[in-house]
Amino acid sequence: MCGIVGYIGNQAAYPILIKGLKRLEYRGYDSAGVALLDDNQINVYKVKGKVADLEKFARRKNTNGTLGIAHTRWATHGEPNEVNAHPHYSQSEDLALIHNGIIENYAVLKQGLIKNGYTFQSETDTEVLIQLIEFIKKTNRVSLPEAVQLALNHVVGAYAIAVIERSQPDLLVAARKGSPLVVGVGEDEYFLASDATPIVEFTDKVVYVGEEEIVTIRRGAELDIKTISNVKKTPRIQKLALTLSQLEKGGYPHFMLKEIFEQPKTLSDSMRGRVNVDENNITLSGFIDNREKFLNAKRIIITACGTSWHAGQIGMYAIEEFARIPVEVEYSSEFRYRKPVIYPDDIVIAISQSGETADTLAAVELAKSQGAFIFGICNVVGSSIPRNTHSGCYTHAGPEIGVASTKAFTAQVTVLTMLALLIGKEKGYLSRENYLRIIRELAKIPEKIDHILLQNDIIAQFAKTFTYAQNFIYLGRGYNFPVALEGALKLKEISYIHAEGYPAAEMKHGPIALISNEMPVVVIATKGEIYEKVVSNIQEIKARKGRIVAITTEGDAEVREMADYAISIPHTEECLVPLISVIPLQLLAYHIAVVKGCDVDQPRNLAKSVTVE
Ligand code: G6P
Repeated sequence: MCGIVGYIGNQAAYPILIKGLKRLEYRGYDSAGVALLDDNQINVYKVKGKVADLEKFARRKNTNGTLGIAHTRWATHGEPNEVNAHPHYSQSEDLALIHNGIIENYAVLKQGLIKNGYTFQSETDTEVLIQLIEFIKKTNRVSLPEAVQLALNHVVGAYAIAVIERSQPDLLVAARKGSPLVVGVGEDEYFLASDATPIVEFTDKVVYVGEEEIVTIRRGAELDIKTISNVKKTPRIQKLALTLSQLEKGGYPHFMLKEIFEQPKTLSDSMRGRVNVDENNITLSGFIDNREKFLNAKRIIITACGTSWHAGQIGMYAIEEFARIPVEVEYSSEFRYRKPVIYPDDIVIAISQSGETADTLAAVELAKSQGAFIFGICNVVGSSIPRNTHSGCYTHAGPEIGVASTKAFTAQVTVLTMLALLIGKEKGYLSRENYLRIIRELAKIPEKIDHILLQNDIIAQFAKTFTYAQNFIYLGRGYNFPVALEGALKLKEISYIHAEGYPAAEMKHGPIALISNEMPVVVIATKGEIYEKVVSNIQEIKARKGRIVAITTEGDAEVREMADYAISIPHTEECLVPLISVIPLQLLAYHIAVVKGCDVDQPRNLAKSVTVE
């Protein structure tokens, strides 16, 4: 989703801004722009397309200046084109602004401004905001920070903004509500960005801008932070844990492939210090600190979006099996609006890779306001959800850049599994023997993934046969049902092939009508409690000439025999199968998308971090 970068200091701003925009490309966007203050003039350049197109466009233009703001836009109001791209000038061109978020009352504000003689170039809500700031600034004769503050008091919606003023070469004003914003603190210079990725190569000192805060950044001065209701705040400088090498492809053609291959390591990182095979124990500080709450919870509600929602489904299977606590898994976007019944002894678990998803953040706020205990499972350290929950667990998968989530998913499932086992053991539902057996097996998952990754070339080979397909069905049962959903989502996201995940037995109630020799059906048929039932489902597909891609357990000749293509995975505990059965599905989606020539890391229309609802 929209990316914001800003710079004020002694260096040339333009290269820093462009580099920053490139680091934010992973968030997803469709146009880009930059505004630079030079010689009492704000020069704005913007294009539809990629940051590389912006660079081409600006090649022979004046890109001087040591103060600037830049933006990648993911269209909400008005189609992706040059006019709607940010930065937007105010009417007099004295001010320029970039914005991430949605101004919900923009239509009313716009009418008021039109009555006062303002005209608009674009269809965006953003242009309304900069005109409003200018209008307020002129009519009240106030400084830019004051005008921003007054204007934001009229705004309903979500925003992260950055504004510059032609006559103020030493001033950058930024603010946020709902959408994320980070300030990097360097030596006599400041960086501004939607997340820390553009900042990390310049400084490891950051200040996360808080909800409804306005930060006034002046060249050579301390940061000045106030809330929109005028309460002064002290900037809290934090140290970034992120490293630059984590943000680069490390020899892989795409971030997605790199991240798939990183999973043995990221799973180990996720378990490090938590799963202790020698001491036969799992330690999760988020659990220890709130042990009684977990043991007494009457219900757990998991709220999440997209891939994180799929991880939540797997969490539900594990928590119900081991901890015997009823679990509901909710789409955050539905949960937040459907007036859910929430009790004070409910635990709400919010799962989010980015920790910034607007709907999940709103679901957290809603559950909090109704007295529930909120536990976050997030990947991005210091992001909004962990800052707004009572407790939680980081997944420690490292930065995930590919839009299609892979390593974050397996890390989420790992954390949920550890949590389920721990509650189950503490509540006495899970015998010591079973607990120990599963822990030992959990610790072996990274090497099992390594083993599956050896089949990458084989999967790449048979991916070539599927480029003709318009549709795919993915089937699984039990713990593998959410994996089927996740496999289908991966394919849809990056190859643009329509794919549906279904519980295998449900196929008879509809999707079976679609089966023909042109329909590839991916069936996760690993050995387990309901293996025989899944085999029967495969027979039903075979009888209708569907083309079967089976994920089987090593040594299973029966399914291998029935399938047109088979990928085998090692045997493991049933509750841990999702951690490995998803790997071939990630690779399958990746290779099909590559063969089709799709932009794997930045698929069309998708955003990595969905900061608007
Ligand atoms: C977007 C991303 C998905 C992600 C979902 C939820 O749609 O493209 O990969 O699963 O948001 O994001 P979160 O950061 O909350 O896990």
